[in-house]
Amino acid sequence: MLKMIQFVLPIFFLAVMGCSKKQHTPVGNIPVPDFSKPVDLLPSLINVRYNPGSSGVESCRTCHQEYYEEWKDSRHAKATQSALFKSTSDHYKLENCMTCHSPADMELSIHRPKARDWHVQEGVTCSSCHVVENRTLGVLNSNAPHHTRFSEEFKTSMACASCHQPTYNQWKESKYAKEERHCQACHMPSTERFIANYAQIGYKKKSAHSHHFPVEYAGACEVDITQGRMSLEQITVAVTNVGAGHDLPTGVFGDNTLQVEFRILDGESEIFFRKETLNQAAKNAIKSGETRRFFYNFRAPQKKSYLMIAKVFFLSSIQNGPIKLAEREQYYYRE
Ligand code: HEC
Ligand code: HEC
Ligand code: HEC
Ligand code: HEC
Ligand code: HEC
Repeated sequence: MLKMIQFVLPIFFLAVMGCSKKQHTPVGNIPVPDFSKPVDLLPSLINVRYNPGSSGVESCRTCHQEYYEEWKDSRHAKATQSALFKSTSDHYKLENCMTCHSPADMELSIHRPKARDWHVQEGVTCSSCHVVENRTLGVLNSNAPHHTRFSEEFKTSMACASCHQPTYNQWKESKYAKEERHCQACHMPSTERFIANYAQIGYKKKSAHSHHFPVEYAGACEVDITQGRMSLEQITVAVTNVGAGHDLPTGVFGDNTLQVEFRILDGESEIFFRKETLNQAAKNAIKSGETRRFFYNFRAPQKKSYLMIAKVFFLSSIQNGPIKLAEREQYYYRE
């Protein structure tokens, strides 16, 4: 037996070294085998016992650099950074605010998480969403060097409900809930990749999700302009929420607002202008799938054509400026 090990081991290492390349890992430069058909083979070799609770993002970054890079540019990572949040939360003193903006471990429920008073600058960090009873909640059933807990629910909108309660409730009412299109389908696009930095050592590429938490504003709504059949003076601007799985806008807590602008031009000069503002505070946000109509009366001074322009903007103090969601131009006819 011993002989066999003495014989097999060097061959194994030769084979491994022979087709290896240098790879930067958390423990320095070590040769990493280049498997042509990777399988979950060697997780036990890197079996670092790791305590995921009470930690900051740095401890996850060691092994999940790509997730860190994505997350750090997301709003979640900046949840305690805006001037508006600092002032309205009385500089982090209002615990009520910290429960969602700097939460401790995850609670997979519609109930509020608890506030975290360490690494406050990290806002909604990895452990806020992933750590439950000292285990990392996951969807892969992976053989990780830390304790994990598989959760079917984590693939659903329930993963977001505890902090995004109003949005979750709006989503429940939408067609997307019936189609089982969860928040992740739109805000965590899927990719395939190595889950950990050095997962090439014996791990396969797996289905994964972007941690940028992107918001696709383009295509969220459509805007239409029509003139009345009976009276061409009656103009309707219709805005339909075609792309959001919830109200447009959904934000309750910040100052997110939808602005619908309608103008009529005579050549270069503007002869008619109206502006509508929609948000949760005013209780006039557009529900998922709903068409909102605005009616205007405009009598053209002369029998010639005028240009009508409708534009929809998304405004928020966390954005650099207005974001255009939709635009429509149409000529005005007068008999
Ligand atoms: C010592 C390295 C290491 C550290 C530190 C580490 N991870 Fe992991 N993690 C891994 C590896 C390796 C896997 C498995 C990869 C695979 O299956 O391809 C993994 C898997 C996971 C998974 C998927 C689990 C599943 O079964 O669905 C999650 C979620 C996760 N880690 C989150 C975290 C979080 C959050 C932290 C910080 C609190 C963290 N990890 C720290 C190496 C690490
Ligand atoms: C632990 C609490 C918490 C959980 C869980 C959570 N979020 Fe968030 N999320 C927040 C907070 C707080 C903000 C606001 C950050 C800021 O801008 O201050 C936010 C912001 C966002 C934004 C950015 C909105 C914008 O205006 O750009 C998106 C998108 C988002 N979350 C999606 C999700 C999705 C999808 C899930 C579930 C997979 C989720 N969140 C789970 C707390 C959470
Ligand atoms: C706002 C909540 C939230 C935050 C913050 C967050 N995750 Fe996730 N993560 C999720 C959800 C939800 C999934 C599962 C998505 C699914 O399967 O639909 C997930 C999946 C994963 C997975 C499994 C593979 C995959 O991509 O689906 C890993 C690994 C992971 N996250 C690591 C991290 C690390 C590391 C951080 C911190 C840098 C982090 N996550 C921060 C919500 C979050
Ligand atoms: C069908 C795709 C889709 C689904 C499903 C979806 N969203 Fe969105 N979400 C969007 C689009 C498009 C926008 C940009 C337009 C807007 O602001 O509503 C957006 C914007 C947001 C915003 C920030 C802007 C705002 O309106 O204040 C947050 C936060 C958000 N979504 C969270 C969620 C959460 C949480 C869920 C699940 C309960 C979810 N979304 C489900 C498409 C979707
Ligand atoms: C239940 C969870 C929750 C609680 C509690 C909460 N927020 Fe938020 N906050 C959010 C989410 C989610 C967003 C993203 C926009 C949205 O969906 O409403 C947000 C966005 C914001 C924003 C706009 C984004 C930014 O960073 O500038 C501000 C400001 C804000 N919250 C302040 C507060 C203050 C102040 C409190 C306490 C009085 C508070 N929030 C309590 C979840 C919460």
